[in-house]
Amino acid sequence: MITDYNGAGGGGDVLLSVRDLKVSFFTPAGEVKAVGGISYELRRGEVIGIVGESGSGKSVEAYSIMGLLQSPGRVVGGSIWLDGENVLEYDKRQMQTLRGGKVSMIFQNPMTSLNPVFTVGNQIREALLAHRAAGRAEADARAVEMLDLAGINNPEKRMRQYPHELSGGMRQRVMIALALICEPDLLIADEPTTALDVTIQAQILSLMERIQKKTKMAIIFITHNLGVVADICSRVAVMYAGYIVETGPVDEIFYRPRHPYTIGLLRSMPRVDADEFERLIPIDGTPVDMLNPPSGCPFAPRCRSCMKICLRLYPPSADFGGGHIASCWLSERGKSVSAAAAAVAAAHAPAAAKGEGGDAYE
Ligand SMILES: Nc1ncnc2c1ncn2[C@@H]1O[C@H](COP(=O)(O)OP(=O)(O)O)[C@@H](O)[C@H]1O
Ligand code: SF4
Ligand SMILES: [Mg+2]
Repeated sequence: MITDYNGAGGGGDVLLSVRDLKVSFFTPAGEVKAVGGISYELRRGEVIGIVGESGSGKSVEAYSIMGLLQSPGRVVGGSIWLDGENVLEYDKRQMQTLRGGKVSMIFQNPMTSLNPVFTVGNQIREALLAHRAAGRAEADARAVEMLDLAGINNPEKRMRQYPHELSGGMRQRVMIALALICEPDLLIADEPTTALDVTIQAQILSLMERIQKKTKMAIIFITHNLGVVADICSRVAVMYAGYIVETGPVDEIFYRPRHPYTIGLLRSMPRVDADEFERLIPIDGTPVDMLNPPSGCPFAPRCRSCMKICLRLYPPSADFGGGHIASCWLSERGKSVSAAAAAVAAAHAPAAAKGEGGDAYE
């Protein structure tokens, strides 16, 4: 089954096209279908958020684009087109050229990307020299400029420091500088702020927003926190158990959510403008056991709207227009999510999403 994610209006200058991507882990206990068949397109300069609970397949999908899947993980179906080329057919050398060149990734833990035994300056300079023709002096000047853009004070001094000499927030900024030094067309940010405290999180988010506006790169912003995407993304894809279950423009997702899982995510999220004693409603049940997923809709065991058919068959995609698509039998049967549930979800939309388009539910 394919959930199409073609964005409002479709067309445009497509940079990335993921087509029915399937990724499995072949473990001693059996095949884990981590990504069950997802499709979406991303245009140049567009920022999309991929949201879902831990274990929903967000990182595995991102690693597939970067050619970073670790054994026993393997792409078992589909294709990933970047600028018209299927990167799944790239050899090792082509993949190395792609990584850090046209596509960069930042990780939750900066130490994943930073090498502890080299100075910050050395690492940024080497990244630039590996991908762009530049002399050493030019590379150093570019590195200082990039550190400055990433909000790092005294960049010349930082160039001579080692990662362990920097604070967590500072390391994350260095990693952003490292990821952006070669001006990638696509940045994949995998939970880049999750490990940081709230104040630093906000700073890093606004930094990314500023850099994106300046460089016009496309970003895939992966997070388990739906609140974060309202600030930085124009579109959202909600993942559950290896599938995109709902996708659409940010306002649509916050104000007219169609999938019970999206509604659950919204209800479990703290509101920016709510008082301190507001009750948050967690989603009942536990995430799917990916070794033994239920047949039918993977959300069925946790869904209060579950019907008989949900236990048997995966729901088809319903198109609500403007790029808003959801996979739920309720939509297929012409039923909308209950007005009460939707109203609760709307009340939980963060302030950033409360601008235009915040009108009532049907
Ligand atoms: N090394 C591995 N071995 C077996 N299964 C894995 C491995 N890595 C990931 N998975 C499976 O893939 C699923 C998705 O993982 P991941 O993409 O990391 O989730 P997240 O959405 O939290 O980023 C997990 O629920 C797990 O079942
Ligand atoms: S398809 Fe059925 S079980 Fe799945 S989310 Fe929709 S109503 Fe719930
Ligand atoms: Mg992850």
